[in-house]
Amino acid sequence: MESEKTYLQNLILNRKVVRNYVESDKTFPALKEIPKLTIKIPTAGFSRGIEIISITSKTNINKLAYFANEESYLKKGFGKWISNSKAIFLILINQEAYHERYEKMDKQNETNSTSWSVPYWYVDAGAAMMNCMLLIDETGLKSGFLGSHNMAISEIKSLLKIPENIEILGFVTAGVEDTTNRNNKQKTSQKKLIHEEIYEK
Ligand SMILES: Cc1cc2nc3c(=O)[nH]c(=O)nc-3n(C[C@H](O)[C@H](O)[C@H](O)COP(=O)(O)O)c2cc1C
Repeated sequence: MESEKTYLQNLILNRKVVRNYVESDKTFPALKEIPKLTIKIPTAGFSRGIEIISITSKTNINKLAYFANEESYLKKGFGKWISNSKAIFLILINQEAYHERYEKMDKQNETNSTSWSVPYWYVDAGAAMMNCMLLIDETGLKSGFLGSHNMAISEIKSLLKIPENIEILGFVTAGVEDTTNRNNKQKTSQKKLIHEEIYEK
């Protein structure tokens, strides 16, 4: 018999990227706690180069939806997502914080941070993203993630006064799921991603 799932296991198992939100007038005070817990992550060398900005004003949420091209998704028949969010959290990456940290004395014998095979600032940003999504799900809202690759980045930076040298990973969204369009199809994958003892395909 399979053992009973823990709270965290259930939170992780039930999380999925939700892209359909309904409009809601309800307030969600628990969202206030999310930013500081989101960035409670380990960062390479304790560089602390991951930051977050939370957006809850309807005006700014609508502007972010516009800069993220929501209109083009609506035209394709998709439901509202970004503009119906109750909050949008932008995960921000300050790469310079890593270079500054790794130039310090105690790190000088290590591979220079400009030559890392895996840029740790993106690793750390991903950790913050996951924290944020799970914390949102814990409030009873549903989380989504929209990568920044198709957004009007300079317009967003100008709107939110984000400095030029700070990168935006994307939007972590929080909203009330529109269950009328819910896609209940279970994604199945034949890909072998978990290995034991040795890597085996
Ligand atoms: C780095 C990253 C970027 C993503 N960018 C987008 C995106 O731009 N648009 C989108 O609809 N989903 C985006 N997603 C979500 C994924 O396409 C997809 O929903 C997710 O892998 C499905 O996982 P889930 O079923 O566990 O929620 C992104 C996810 C990640 C991790």
